[in-house]
Amino acid sequence: MSKAWSNRFDKSLDPFIEQFNSSINFDKNLIIEDLDCSIAHARMLGINQIISVKESEIIINGLNEIKNEYLKGEFIPCFPSEDIHYCIEEKLINLIGDLGKKLHTGRSRNDQVGTDLRLWLRKKIDEIIDLIIDLQKALLSLADKNLYTLIPGYTHLQRAQPLSFAHHLLAYIEMLQRDIDRLHNVRDRVNISPLGAAALAGTKIKIDRFVTAKELGFKDIYKNSLDAVSDRDFAVEFVAASSLIMTHLSRLSEEIILWVTDEFSFATLTDKCATGSSLMPQKKNPDVPELIRGKTGRVFGHLQALLTIIKGLPLAYNKDFQEDKEPIFDTVKTVADCLKAMNILIKDGLIIEKENLLRSVEEDFSNSTDLADYLVSKNVPFREAYQTVGSIVKLCLSKKKLLKDLSLAEFQDFNEKFEEDIFEKLTPRNVVDSRNSIGGTGFEQVSLQLKSWKSKLLN
Ligand code: ARG
Repeated sequence: MSKAWSNRFDKSLDPFIEQFNSSINFDKNLIIEDLDCSIAHARMLGINQIISVKESEIIINGLNEIKNEYLKGEFIPCFPSEDIHYCIEEKLINLIGDLGKKLHTGRSRNDQVGTDLRLWLRKKIDEIIDLIIDLQKALLSLADKNLYTLIPGYTHLQRAQPLSFAHHLLAYIEMLQRDIDRLHNVRDRVNISPLGAAALAGTKIKIDRFVTAKELGFKDIYKNSLDAVSDRDFAVEFVAASSLIMTHLSRLSEEIILWVTDEFSFATLTDKCATGSSLMPQKKNPDVPELIRGKTGRVFGHLQALLTIIKGLPLAYNKDFQEDKEPIFDTVKTVADCLKAMNILIKDGLIIEKENLLRSVEEDFSNSTDLADYLVSKNVPFREAYQTVGSIVKLCLSKKKLLKDLSLAEFQDFNEKFEEDIFEKLTPRNVVDSRNSIGGTGFEQVSLQLKSWKSKLLN
């Protein structure tokens, strides 16, 4: 097939440069969207009598035939076509003859590639949102079984205050919800049609940009043709939103990696998600969360790459934009894979060691704040109560005791307002249950949160 460029070229490209220039090996991903974009364009050309309705029908049938052949595996886009756009055009001319040469009337690959990419990404955003919802449901189901399972809460990775394990899991559902909201927001800006901006300046052909936008399901069109062909903000926004999804998955992964250590023993990996060591027969490794944590770096890298590609570009289209595709494609694959893997890990990969969790919150000083709060309830100023409890903890440490092991007399040596009911107040279950402020870890609050997420996710 001869090159699609104009007759001004006498000689063919250097073979290495031909490879270097081509994007077909990755932009073949956009084949369905490229065909849909061309079908919409061809129909509009017919409606506006730029070509005859008959011609438009033949072109559309040809494009549908290419789609069928591709879906049946009979047509495989590949080099030496330069990119998917030329590849389809060449194939169409092959199939229907010279009439195929009319398809590119009134458009350029610059508005075409922008349209394809937006169509592709719009669909992928919807798929990623569904995967996030699946993960939220898995977390919700685990949370629902663990309202009364207690887990140490940490600040600075030091024991702070005990929590309902459900509360801990619900925090991730909240983060994921913000991720969904961000994706919806990005989707709104992806969902705008650049088609008809042509190379950069618009066209004198009497096209109708609203017709193609409507057929392709875009909610609006770009107002400025230069902006239309050179805007990649939507790609940056998508990868930025994905970076936050990966950040959230990575934090959860890190916690799971800690939970399954011998030191924590809060959970055990099932065989479905654990891998062995080639050398140490006793080992069960958390490869799944480690891989998710590790893959986060790729997505951050793609964000950096996109920003750097765009930052120095004068208006309008520059070939640098060809470099936007691989970061976007790899981000979509990485995020989708990690969401699926985390879903499996949460659903089938973890056994929560409830006994160990319960024991862990019995054996620390995470009820110290409650001791201070007790004195506050007896009208002792908080800062004074705080100092008193500091001294009590110091005494316990020197005697290798926990707060609950002290006698009432020992408590009263520090403040006579301590009474017998102090022991009741110090049990981890009561410590958790009493934190009933809105959004707190008290069982009543967490039940409300569970209920509201159930009605949102499981309706
Ligand atoms: N393969 C190109 C890309 O991905 C398509 C657009 C080419 N446009 C051009 N004027 N060379 O960006």
